[in-house]
Amino acid sequence: MTDNLHFSSQTDQWATPQAVFDWLDGHLGPYDLDAAADSTNHKCANYIGSDVDALTVPWSGSHVWLNPPYGRGLGRWATKAIEEIDAGNCDSITILVPARTDTNWFIDLADRAHRIIFVKRRLRFGDGSRDAPFPTAILVIDKNSLGSQIDFGVVVGDAL
Ligand SMILES: C[S@@+](CC[C@H](N)C(=O)[O-])C[C@H]1O[C@@H](n2cnc3c(N)ncnc32)[C@H](O)[C@@H]1O
Repeated sequence: MTDNLHFSSQTDQWATPQAVFDWLDGHLGPYDLDAAADSTNHKCANYIGSDVDALTVPWSGSHVWLNPPYGRGLGRWATKAIEEIDAGNCDSITILVPARTDTNWFIDLADRAHRIIFVKRRLRFGDGSRDAPFPTAILVIDKNSLGSQIDFGVVVGDAL
């Protein structure tokens, strides 16, 4: 895999705003592995990407940072993150994703999340000149937690 291949998808390139990463790194980190990155945008010195497919290797670390590509493959990243926690390869994974609360992958993560932060306002990713057209959520899955008290994806009454 090469950087060029990664750049083939616009959805790959929603780089975390540095101030957001720094705040999370201070409060929930420090992160010692960036699980989805390339040589130009990695948030930790230790990262997976460029020439290695993170979906096929262990995520060995203590606190792992994950801002995955936002394309159709997001479900595979959610599954992989949960597998890595269950395998005991890391203690926690903090995941920055679009707040697509109606999707299977979001509900799977939320079911396991020890903490969920719904971000106020829209983030301005990378070196973009505009705010993102979607809301963002941050989910923390932790080896010591089997889930939160928040229920997601519930059909309430007969409104739908
Ligand atoms: C949303 S960006 C996040 C970049 C950076 N980690 C951050 O938080 O700002 C997603 C990154 O994942 C990389 N990526 C895409 N597929 C990957 C894969 N299979 N394994 C590892 N990294 C991948 C992309 O090249 C891109 O740099």
